[in-house]
Amino acid sequence: MSLIDYKGFGGVRLSADMLGDENDPAVLLVPDLGQSRSAWRDVAEALVLSGRRVVNLDLRGGAEEGNRDLAPHVEDLRAVLAQMGSRPVVVTAGRGGWVAARALGLEGAHLAAGLVLVDIPVDKDALASGVASRLTLPTLVVRGGFAPSESSMSSVAFAAALPAGERADIDDCDLALASDRKEALLGQLLEFLERHQPREAMEFKAGSDPRTLRDAMGCFATGITIVTALDADGVPVGLTANSFTSVSLDPPLLLVCIANTAGTAPALRAAAHFGVNVLQIGQQPTSTRFAAKGEDRFANQPWAPGQTGIPLLEGSLVSFECRHESLHEAGDHFILVGRVVRAQFEPHRDPLLYFRGKYRRLHFA
Ligand SMILES: Cc1cc2nc3c(=O)[nH]c(=O)nc-3n(C[C@H](O)[C@H](O)[C@H](O)COP(=O)(O)O)c2cc1C
Repeated sequence: MSLIDYKGFGGVRLSADMLGDENDPAVLLVPDLGQSRSAWRDVAEALVLSGRRVVNLDLRGGAEEGNRDLAPHVEDLRAVLAQMGSRPVVVTAGRGGWVAARALGLEGAHLAAGLVLVDIPVDKDALASGVASRLTLPTLVVRGGFAPSESSMSSVAFAAALPAGERADIDDCDLALASDRKEALLGQLLEFLERHQPREAMEFKAGSDPRTLRDAMGCFATGITIVTALDADGVPVGLTANSFTSVSLDPPLLLVCIANTAGTAPALRAAAHFGVNVLQIGQQPTSTRFAAKGEDRFANQPWAPGQTGIPLLEGSLVSFECRHESLHEAGDHFILVGRVVRAQFEPHRDPLLYFRGKYRRLHFA
C-alpha cells in the first residue's frame, strides 16, 4: 500500500491509499462526509485480493465535522478522476454518494466506468433538483450495506429517479436482511465490477481433448481432503483427494473418487472403514506430502485413531469417519461411498481450496 496525494479543487491536497497492482482495473472508494478513508479499509483489502487496484480517498476536511457543503467535494472528485490513469468504478458511502452523483451526472459520466452508492441517505433537495435523473452510467444502489439503514426510503426514491432509459443497468439491492453484511456487500460489489469492469475480456476455450477437459474440470473450485485407512497389515495409508462430495444426509453418505492406479487403491477397496480429512488453510504442506510419491506420509504427521481405529489427521478442518457403504467402478477411477459414523470439525479455521490447478484461500471471510 502506498500513500498518494491528489490535487483537489483550488489546489487542495487530498490523500489516498493506493493498493493493488497498477495493471488491474481501478476502483475509487469515497467515504461518507465526516468519515475518513479508514471506513473502507476492509473492503479495499478484499477488492485487492479479488484483482482490483484500489484508490481509497479522503475527502477534504477528512473526518472533521462542519464540512457539509457538497460543491467543493464535487469539484475535488472531478479533479481526482481527471488525474487517474484509467476510468474507475466509483464506490461511495453515505453522503459521498451525493457528491459522486453530482460529479458524474451528464458531462461527468465519461469520468467513471460505473457508480456504486452504498447507503445514500435522504437529500430531498438533490432528489428535487434531478441529480439522479442525470446519471447515465451503470449504477448500483445498495441499501443496508453498513447497517440496516434509515436510508432505505431515500435509496428507493433515488433508484426510482434514475433515468428510465438506463434501467437495464441500474440495480437496487437491499442487504438489510443479510446475515453477514460485509460479505453480502462485497458479493454485490464484485458482481457489479465483473459485469461493468471485467478484469480481462472473457475468453472461452472449447474442445474435447484430454487437456481441455482437464482444465475445464479444474474450473470447479473444491476443498482438499486426505483419504485415510489402514491396510491389511494395520499400517496407516492415505492420499490427497479433491474428488470429495457429500451425497446424502439420511442416511449420511459421502463419496470420493480414487484412481485405479493409486498405490493406496487396493487398501481403500478392501478397507471396512476409511476417513476423509478436510484440510484447513495451514495444511497445504500436508496436501503436498500426501500427493507425492516415495514420501513417508505419516512420519511427521500427528494423527489419532478414530472409533474404528482408522487414522484421523490432527488439526484438520473436518474429519469424517466412515464405514464402507458401496463401491462403483467408474472409468479409470472407482467411486468409494462411505456411511459417516462420526464427524468432528473445527468451526473457526478457513479451508484450503483448490482451483485451476493451484491452492487458494478464501478472499473474504
Ligand atoms: C489437489 C489434489 C487433488 C487430488 N485428487 C485426487 C483424487 O480425487 N483422487 C485420486 O485418486 N487422486 C487424487 N490426487 C492425486 C493423488 O493424491 C496422488 O496421485 C497420490 O500420489 C496418490 O498416492 P498413492 O499412489 O500412494 O495412492 C490429487 C492430487 C492433488 C495434488
